[in-house]
Amino acid sequence: MKIKKENYKKIDLFSCIKTLNISDKDSKYFIDSLELNDSLDKKTYKKVKKKIDRLKREPIQYVLGYINFYGYTYKVNKHTLIPRFETEELVENTLKLIKEHLNEKIKILDIGTGSGCIGITLKKELPKANVTISDISKKALKVAKENSKDINIRIVRGNLLNPFLNKDRFNVIISNPPYISYSEKIDDLVYHNEPHIALYARKNGLYYYEKILKDIKQILEKDFIIAFETGMTQKKGVIKLINKYLSNVDIICKKDLQKRDRMIFIKSR
Ligand SMILES: C[S@@+](CC[C@H](N)C(=O)[O-])C[C@H]1O[C@@H](n2cnc3c(N)ncnc32)[C@H](O)[C@@H]1O
Repeated sequence: MKIKKENYKKIDLFSCIKTLNISDKDSKYFIDSLELNDSLDKKTYKKVKKKIDRLKREPIQYVLGYINFYGYTYKVNKHTLIPRFETEELVENTLKLIKEHLNEKIKILDIGTGSGCIGITLKKELPKANVTISDISKKALKVAKENSKDINIRIVRGNLLNPFLNKDRFNVIISNPPYISYSEKIDDLVYHNEPHIALYARKNGLYYYEKILKDIKQILEKDFIIAFETGMTQKKGVIKLINKYLSNVDIICKKDLQKRDRMIFIKSR
């Protein structure tokens, strides 16, 4: 197909917006360097301009409306946390542990699922598993529902373990809970865009780990793995809580690719 010269700019812009898999700093540079001119028709110009304007104050993932996670594409919006690379590592390590210690027909619970990225990915990688994803946020679960429309997964709205106590038991409980302490200074882009309910936790960021660990025994099968993503300074605090509420377990701590303490796994003996 021959592209008319006056359409070059239009095509360029769209492909840039679509493939802008670059850092926020670079995307700002990109926006500043764009020369929008008359070669775009009015409607297209407005559409592109709107997106570019959003890019000045919003993370690129929200502007695009999707992210790539563990090789899968998931929808995200301002009601869901933008999944991070560390969380892909959490999923990868959890899958390894499951393969080593459990069978495929297991029951998995993802607490605080947000976009659904953890639970849905586990279901895609382990099709025989029975997977439940849960969150307290109705608006996040709407996104998770869209992301899971092609697979068979249970979606539950509720506060942490409450919906499952005296009802369900699981072999794998995985969570990337809110863990940022209220005193921590975070990036402005994150602070002004991502849902605070997904970010902050009381008690130096340890509040949700304690809430989950306190009652977790009641919903665990005999053979189990618990997988937590943690903040990089929380390893000691989380281990203390594990020892307070669980006995006779193995604790495995892992660092992320940047050598920061970011994952804790608890395994039945
Ligand atoms: C750090 S985000 C993780 C989102 C997603 N799992 C990920 O890794 O990208 C924490 C999630 O926990 C949810 N959450 C906060 N408080 C909760 C509660 N009391 N019960 C259940 N979910 C909660 C938030 O809505 C948010 O989606």
